[in-house]
Amino acid sequence: MADPVAIEEPAPASAVHLSRLVVTHFRSYERAALVLDGRPVVLTGPNGAGKTNLLEAISLLSPGRGLRGVPFSDLGYRAQGEQTSRLGWGVAATLMRHQGEVWDESVIGTGQNAPTDPELDEPPRVRTVRIDGETQSSAGVLTDYVRVLWLTPAQDRLFLDGAGGRRRFLDRLVMGFDPTHGTRVNAFEKVLRERNRLLSEDVRDVMWYAAVEEQIAEYGVAMAAARVETIARLKGAIDAAAESAFPKSLLALSGDLEAALGEGEAATDVEDRYRARLEENRARDRGAGRTLDGPHRSDLLVRHAPKDMEAKACSTGEQKALLLGLILANTRLLTLSIGAPPLLLLDEVAAHLDAERRAALFDELCDMGVQAWMTGTDASLFQALGSRAQAFDVRDNRCDISTL
Ligand SMILES: Nc1ncnc2c1ncn2[C@@H]1O[C@H](COP(=O)(O)OP(=O)(O)OP(=O)(O)O)[C@@H](O)[C@H]1O
Ligand SMILES: [Mg+2]
Repeated sequence: MADPVAIEEPAPASAVHLSRLVVTHFRSYERAALVLDGRPVVLTGPNGAGKTNLLEAISLLSPGRGLRGVPFSDLGYRAQGEQTSRLGWGVAATLMRHQGEVWDESVIGTGQNAPTDPELDEPPRVRTVRIDGETQSSAGVLTDYVRVLWLTPAQDRLFLDGAGGRRRFLDRLVMGFDPTHGTRVNAFEKVLRERNRLLSEDVRDVMWYAAVEEQIAEYGVAMAAARVETIARLKGAIDAAAESAFPKSLLALSGDLEAALGEGEAATDVEDRYRARLEENRARDRGAGRTLDGPHRSDLLVRHAPKDMEAKACSTGEQKALLLGLILANTRLLTLSIGAPPLLLLDEVAAHLDAERRAALFDELCDMGVQAWMTGTDASLFQALGSRAQAFDVRDNRCDISTL
């Protein structure tokens, strides 16, 4: 029997989408260019073909180090046998945004130049960001144009591994709503390292500690408050959503600061108490060799709501469905609060899902009107999308248009 989805109407172009993507000397690509029309995108091809590399390129259109979180100097194309890249790399995209009744077009790009001295071993540590030909002072400005969310196979162990991964996941969720959160987290980590250095070098200068602890308390409470606010909004969005193929999550935050703020205590009181606790516990922390109190030790606690079971005890597929449910809720909330959908990068997301969940995911992505980028080794997994998505066959570091 013919596949009934094949006659589906094409999805309308997402209100925010890439219409062109060009990568140059990026990872396995010398150059690749994709022309896009705003529907979700499916990239299929064999292992090692360069599918995730393309998602990583798009993830660099947001602040930070992208979906693999590696140093920028790792991103340049290396020919076989080369240990380092000497070419520099670039990612450029044409971004279409539907504003009012018209489409606004911007060219956004990022990359690193080749070292001027070819003998220079150290490539530059920073990357350049350009918007419409103008070099920007920081990557933060990218969030004024587009937000990018992703889910990768590396996150499959999110509920099983330590709290660090969940904190990073949480902080990325917060950054979607409040891009300044990243700066706050970096500033907090910097002063925390400073206090840990004082402790390990056995510095006893009280004034020095007081100055550092004041900043730790200020940034730490601001960081915790942003987390509490995001989780409260996300919980509201999850509660309000209809039941779907993706189970609802029960979310909670562990951490003293988050708990106090969540109970409605004034931020200034929480800050005073945290500062006092740091002061009291200098001797204990000196013994431990690090600061033991603070939002750098908090955790995002997730339960599978229908089963009322902690996420880590759920099956692999259930954990994937929970994570997808969270990302979808976050996407809906973000679309409502900033008035524009993000780009979604879903690496190998279809493989773990049964046919019914896959179809539900595709329907939901098309309903939300997001340009979701999905990868997989097997094109048949995406057949239910039919003409609602555009497909590319990725192999030998080329991307050719194909059909589902
Ligand atoms: N800097 C680099 N220069 C050249 N090649 C690189 C570089 N970094 C990674 N590669 C290569 O890129 C190739 C493609 O990687 P990618 O992760 O995109 O594949 P994929 O299509 O997602 O495969 P899979 O289906 O296994 O996930 C790998 O073979 C890897 O060795
Ligand atoms: Mg891959």
